[in-house]
Amino acid sequence: MSKLFSLAGRVALVTGASRGLGWAIAETFAEHGAEVVLAARDQAALDARAEALAARGHKAHAMAFDVADRAASSEAVAAVAAEHGRLDILVNNAGIVHRGPIAELADADWDRVIETNLTAAFRLAREAARPMVAQGRGRIINTASIMATVARPAIASYVAAKGGLVALTRALAVEFGAEGITSNAIAPGYISTEMTADLEANAEFDAFVRTRTPLARWGRPEEIGAVALFLASDAGSYVNGHLLVADGGLTVAL
Ligand SMILES: NC(=O)c1ccc[n+]([C@@H]2O[C@H](COP(=O)([O-])OP(=O)(O)OC[C@H]3O[C@@H](n4cnc5c(N)ncnc54)[C@H](OP(=O)(O)O)[C@@H]3O)[C@@H](O)[C@H]2O)c1
Repeated sequence: MSKLFSLAGRVALVTGASRGLGWAIAETFAEHGAEVVLAARDQAALDARAEALAARGHKAHAMAFDVADRAASSEAVAAVAAEHGRLDILVNNAGIVHRGPIAELADADWDRVIETNLTAAFRLAREAARPMVAQGRGRIINTASIMATVARPAIASYVAAKGGLVALTRALAVEFGAEGITSNAIAPGYISTEMTADLEANAEFDAFVRTRTPLARWGRPEEIGAVALFLASDAGSYVNGHLLVADGGLTVAL
């Protein structure tokens, strides 16, 4: 394994790691030597994932908490740092989408999306920065979306949350850079996961993705895992405040 991409000796906390992109990121990190803490709300799903990694000889732990629960998520970060003696990588990946036109968008649905996709990332980054500053190094990686820079109808809260997440990434980058902490965001295009299963099953939308994306296909979760590995490893050591787009070229095509 190339040392440049090795995560040996690093402890990583990945939210939304029970499936989809978060699972792919956690799996990729584990395969490259990291000790991974998988977080989401479903304890049983996390246990199954952690056991699968352990069976392959990797170090993995399951930690169930709701990132929208302010007290629980702050405590979770402190618990990871206390238990493992360090925290090297935080991936704020847990996310939800609410679909519906703005005219019918209830305040509670707006709040839930902003809390889960944006405010939770702020809180977890604030807490993770404490052990990272003490260590003199750290990596914060936020899963944003191409919807941070472009928009589609009927997902206004998601578009706003992801745009805010990219702005937060810049704020983290300038504030923690001198402490040896890099902060970056990933903007996936359309990737096959549970979140997008309905869209992929819709023949019209599937055709839209395949026609508009220069690579003419949906992305695979492991392709986002590889991007996160670059940002988490020494390979990405001078990348800070960046939005890394992995969308098969969708947003550069007219
Ligand atoms: N798939 C795409 O095409 C795509 C494109 C751009 C960006 N993204 C972003 O990538 C991230 C992952 O998406 P995905 O496609 O992998 O979605 P997914 O398959 O629906 O997985 C979402 C993950 O987040 C967890 N989660 C949701 N709400 C949570 C909460 N309140 N607290 C803790 N964990 C929570 C879920 O587990 P529990 O339900 O058990 O909590 C699950 O592990 C999201 O931020 C999404 O916005 C996805």
